[in-house]
Amino acid sequence: MVQGAGREAHATARANAEEEAVAEQVRCLKRERDAVVLAHYYVPPETQELADHVGDSFALARLARTIEAQVIVLAGVAFMGESAKLLNPRRTVLLPVPEADCPMAHMVSVEQIERVREERPGIVVVCYVNSTAEVKAASDVCVTSSNAVGIVRALPQSEVLFVPDMNLGRYVAQQVPEKHVIMGRGWCPRHAGISPESVRALVDAHPMAEVLAHPECTEEVLAEADFVGSTSQIIGRACATHARELVVLTVEGVTHELGRACAGQGKTVLFPQPAPACPNMSLVTPERVRDCLRDLSGEVALDERLAATATRPLERMLDLAERR
Ligand code: 13P
Ligand code: SF4
Repeated sequence: MVQGAGREAHATARANAEEEAVAEQVRCLKRERDAVVLAHYYVPPETQELADHVGDSFALARLARTIEAQVIVLAGVAFMGESAKLLNPRRTVLLPVPEADCPMAHMVSVEQIERVREERPGIVVVCYVNSTAEVKAASDVCVTSSNAVGIVRALPQSEVLFVPDMNLGRYVAQQVPEKHVIMGRGWCPRHAGISPESVRALVDAHPMAEVLAHPECTEEVLAEADFVGSTSQIIGRACATHARELVVLTVEGVTHELGRACAGQGKTVLFPQPAPACPNMSLVTPERVRDCLRDLSGEVALDERLAATATRPLERMLDLAERR
């Protein structure tokens, strides 16, 4: 009979063995299916460990276009799978949890975009990659948080409709004051949920800390930031800075890659409380990756005509980002 601490050790050993068994099944299925797994930093650490590549939204889109394997598993939310399929339509793209969706992607409609186009002919429509294929098809160019400022600045038009994220849109407008930016009304419940009070409490308690924030945060929260960037850019800055303490204002999922990338630097990473978590990304567990590979389930299928139009703004983003 196993008791007390022994029972705990036994349970941990069993959990580790089960985790390793799933990881081994995924490795076998990847070979069998000729599959590549791409993961976002917000999915659980065990899923990131199984992935062939982990990245921010821009890196995942750019990589997806170049994958030559038959199957791409996109361990992330629905719009990421759609982007991969749009950019590499000859591959089978699987979403381990097709119902894991980004609420912000649905916070603007095609009708709203068309109404603004009618009222303001000549306006350029910029859509955040966190959007549906239909919204992409109604837009002129896509952006991610890593390139939005540079792409908006590079556009020839002086009037911009930015959808759906009002926080990223406002941040872009502030960085590119020469343009007139009209914002959508969407927001990320995770980033917009970070309270300025929780950030100020951390900053007061750790006055030497560098504050790294995602531009999906509110204006009041960004006012506290020393650095603003995408998840990859936050991780890059965390490793590059000499600061020993870091206040990180994005979803806690980045902790895994931060630990890996900044290993041995002895940095302390602090999150506002409650630590931001994305419940949709959290659903993408190793078991779901294994099941989708085994069953070839969760395939992304897009109407051909819609896909043809929705691909253009994504390709334009990749093109503009490459030229900068
Ligand atoms: P990035 O990883 O591109 O910064 O995006 C963050 C995010 O919220 C994805 O949904
Ligand atoms: Fe959407 Fe926010 Fe989750 Fe990213 S973190 S997928 S923007 S809800």
